Amino acid sequence: MIEHDALSATREAYDAVAPVYAQRFRDELRDRPLDRAMLGAFAEVVSARGDGQVADLGCGPGHITAYLDELGLAAFGVDGSSAMIELARQAYPGLRFDVGSMAALNIADGALGGVLSRWSVIHTPPQEVPVILAEFHRVLAPGGHLLVGFSASDDPSHPTQVFDHAVAPAYRWSPDHFAATLRKSGLAEVARMVREPQPTDRRQFKEIHLLARKG
Ligand SMILES: C[S@@+](CC[C@H](N)C(=O)[O-])C[C@H]1O[C@@H](n2cnc3c(N)ncnc32)[C@H](O)[C@@H]1O
Repeated sequence: MIEHDALSATREAYDAVAPVYAQRFRDELRDRPLDRAMLGAFAEVVSARGDGQVADLGCGPGHITAYLDELGLAAFGVDGSSAMIELARQAYPGLRFDVGSMAALNIADGALGGVLSRWSVIHTPPQEVPVILAEFHRVLAPGGHLLVGFSASDDPSHPTQVFDHAVAPAYRWSPDHFAATLRKSGLAEVARMVREPQPTDRRQFKEIHLLARKG
C-alpha cells in the first residue's frame, strides 16, 4: 500500500488521543452552522438520487456519521484507527463502523451514493492523495457525490503546505489545487464553501468544504 508509512503513523497517533478527541469534538456541529449547511446540502443531493449507502471515510469517533444518519442517509464509517472505531461503535451502537484504509477500501466498485471525507485527507502526503481520490472515485456510483473538508493554504506559490497539527503531520491545500486534483481523478467540482478563520479558532486558517460529483 503506497501510503503505508503515513497511515501507520497517523493510526498510532489517533489511537493515542482517541478518547480526548472524541470528548472534544463530539458536539462540535452544534456551533458550526456552515458545516451543517454543507452536510445538509450533501445529504439532499445524495438522497435526491435515491441511491445507496454513504461512507464517512476517516470518520474518527463517528459523530459526523451519526449526523448523516440523522439526516436520513444510510451512513457507515471507516477509519484507520481501531481506537477511534471502538469509540464510535460504543457511542453509536446502531451504526456500522469498520477499521480500514482510505487508500484500499473494502468496498465494491460503484457501491456508494456518497463519500464524506472531513479533515481526513489532511494527513496523507500530497503526492499520495491521488491514490485516495482514485479510491473515492472507484467506490462512488456514477453521479455519486463527494464532500471533502480540509484546511486551506492561501499562498499561490505553495499549493500545498505542511502545518503543525496537534495529532499527526498534516497538509493544507490551496482550494483551486485540490479542485484540480479532484478533476484529474474524474470528480468534478459542484460547489465550495469557504469559511474564514474565526477569532475562537485555534489555527487562523480558512476551511474549505468542497462538493464534487463523479461524472
Ligand atoms: C482530524 S480526524 C477527522 C475525524 C472526523 N472526520 C471529523 O470530522 O472529526 C482525521 C481522521 O482520519 C483518519 N485517517 C487519516 N488518514 C486515514 C487513512 N489514510 N485511512 C483511514 N483513516 C484515516 C484518522 O485516523 C482520524 O481519525
